[in-house]
Amino acid sequence: MIEVENLVKRYGNMTAVKGINFRVEPGEIVGLLGPNGAGKTTTMRMLTGFMPPTEGTIQICGFDVVEDSMSVRQRVGYMPERVPVYPDMTVEGYVTFWAKLRGVRDVRARVHAVLEQFQLLDRRKQLVRFLSKGLRQRLGLAQALVHQPPVIILDEPTIGIDPRQVIEVRDAVRSLREGHAVLFSSHILSEVEQVCDRVIIINHGQIVGEGTPETLSRQLAGRQQVFVVVEGGSDARISAFLRKIPDVVHVRAMDDGFLITTKSDVDLRPTLSRLITQEGFTIVEMRAVDASLEDVFLTLTETKQP
Ligand SMILES: Nc1ncnc2c1ncn2[C@@H]1O[C@H](COP(=O)(O)OP(=O)(O)OP(=O)(O)O)[C@@H](O)[C@H]1O
Ligand SMILES: [Mg+2]
Repeated sequence: MIEVENLVKRYGNMTAVKGINFRVEPGEIVGLLGPNGAGKTTTMRMLTGFMPPTEGTIQICGFDVVEDSMSVRQRVGYMPERVPVYPDMTVEGYVTFWAKLRGVRDVRARVHAVLEQFQLLDRRKQLVRFLSKGLRQRLGLAQALVHQPPVIILDEPTIGIDPRQVIEVRDAVRSLREGHAVLFSSHILSEVEQVCDRVIIINHGQIVGEGTPETLSRQLAGRQQVFVVVEGGSDARISAFLRKIPDVVHVRAMDDGFLITTKSDVDLRPTLSRLITQEGFTIVEMRAVDASLEDVFLTLTETKQP
């Protein structure tokens, strides 16, 4: 339903999206996971026809986003990162405006249905500008779904809302799975694991990992982190040496030492210790670090940094 091929976006001489490929099928909730600046919003804006790609193609339900943008807009529900508000509209007026814009036939009935779905009925006469952040997110969802689109694109729908509302929004997203292709962005690994059938990890405009939450967790859990304090050389020399050790995938210089990420299942400390000493450095301290999945994810995405 969503087919993306060799998608590139350049802003001036900065390349925000560097040739990505992926698909989302109906009945699937796919998470686009990446840290700040990864290119999630840029990708989603191109998918929804808000911004043309610099290179590459996007098809939504078989329609080209650039050549058939009207057909695409009718089939896509998009909740942007910052839900744009027309402050002088009422809740009902806002959703009605979007419904008409997308050529919904039974506007009144559909508006009523989505306001009910997102528990906004009792607020329908309220001005949008007086809504809390959480209510605005719900309004954003209502707006995105009023025309019953088969493809739904949600840009960090749970950001900035309280924990109870986060649960509500996640439940709402999960309930959309049937018959829809849903693309959902987040920078929270646990959230994506809870909500999505498949995860695409993006960093610096590139896809750096992809899989079900289970395979991804397994893949990441196989990694280990070791913290070492080494003396006998400059930080740059030590760090360059550590990076060359087999099974070391990442080295981060910290204030007081180095955080080494390995891709080995076995404890690498004896090997590290031997190699570092052989090189003529002194180990002042060495310990295994309990890496949370979040930490390891960040390390994984940092590894591919150009
Ligand atoms: N209109 C723009 N002009 C120039 N650069 C931009 C523009 N929009 C985004 N960028 C840059 O492109 C890169 C990707 O930004 P993008 O907003 O897509 O990331 P993101 O993954 O959505 O991040 P966040 O988690 O912070 O929302 C960033 O380096 C950003 O500074
Ligand atoms: Mg963003």
